[in-house]
Amino acid sequence: MDTAFLNMSLETLEGWLRETDETRLETLWTAADETRRAYVGDEVHLRGLIEISNRCARNCAYCGLRADNKQIERYRMEKHEIMDCAHQAKGFGYGTVVLQAGEDFGITRAWMTDLIQTIKAETGLAVTLSLGERDDDDLTAWREAGADRYLLRFETSNKELYARIHPPAKGKTVSDRPAILRRLQALGYEAGSGVMIGIPGQTYASVAQDIDLFRALDLDMLGVGPYIAHPHTPLGEDKMPAAPANEQVPNTELMTYKVVALTRLVCPEANLPSTTALATLNLANGRELGLLRGANILMPNMTPPQYRVLYEIYPAKACIQETARDCHACMGARIRSIGRTPGTGHGGRKHRVPTGESLFLH
Ligand code: 5AD
Ligand code: SF4
Ligand code: FES
Repeated sequence: MDTAFLNMSLETLEGWLRETDETRLETLWTAADETRRAYVGDEVHLRGLIEISNRCARNCAYCGLRADNKQIERYRMEKHEIMDCAHQAKGFGYGTVVLQAGEDFGITRAWMTDLIQTIKAETGLAVTLSLGERDDDDLTAWREAGADRYLLRFETSNKELYARIHPPAKGKTVSDRPAILRRLQALGYEAGSGVMIGIPGQTYASVAQDIDLFRALDLDMLGVGPYIAHPHTPLGEDKMPAAPANEQVPNTELMTYKVVALTRLVCPEANLPSTTALATLNLANGRELGLLRGANILMPNMTPPQYRVLYEIYPAKACIQETARDCHACMGARIRSIGRTPGTGHGGRKHRVPTGESLFLH
């Protein structure tokens, strides 16, 4: 192995996405796994996911939380409920809590600032925010309050497809998420992004471009999951066109692993979760296969059961009936079953040359 993987061209990336030969694919899985071990090691960092609100002002064409979906009951967690989860995360030995919600402007700058400060003061955990496209003043205030990381998937790098599935916010034009990610980096956040795989209209060439954009933006975290149709959304109701058959990327488990593996090869230092959407397609061992093909992060769900069932971004989501304690035990067992170890510490991005075999230094 050499630097060839790091610098893969768009043509090579697309070739891998279209690869069907199992022996060749084994070489991809092995390269991704070796690169993962060399750069980020055998620790699997656990991020306790708290879905703090399912309210959303936006109308993404694929998402069950979209404002126009009147068929779900909405909630916003209270501060004391979130603090209970944060303390539980600390007790489980996690290094990070991820506070995720729809674009909920009932979550105000001041309220969030206070929450971040309280979590930092009482637990010392790393705090990751995943709250959608917020004002620059909000992002600045929350960073100053101590938030460490921010997640905002760009979903697809294809501008035309992006615009089709992301109606702008009221009074605004179509958003530029790569620009927001650069701004998050400038504010000193570790910035995370990601895409869905198999969006109707998404081509092989555009997924190759997505991976290339991960590399160009030098992101710290990258989440990749299959697109899963939600019946109460325009995209799920088949109201939007697929690409021609030989161009349309399928929303399969296999395609998702290919993107995870290629992402590890071009962004070797990044933190890559094995996602819940992947587990939804393969509950038995989707998470493990993600971890064996480039991923090094798991995000156990800590949302209290009465809210968890309402955070239905897509149907039949994995872990919907479980408690935080169930997910904690389940994740630990899965990590040990593949000979890896639960991470200690915050598990932030490592900037370093690989250890062990110096795969990229010759
Ligand atoms: N299928 C898969 N992933 C989805 N997300 C939203 N809706 C769906 C869906 N129908 C993902 C988006 C978003 C993340 C929080 O959930 O990528 O960024
Ligand atoms: Fe809202 Fe996020 Fe869903 Fe879009 S993807 S509708 S911003 S929760
Ligand atoms: Fe939640 Fe397995 S990870 S129950």
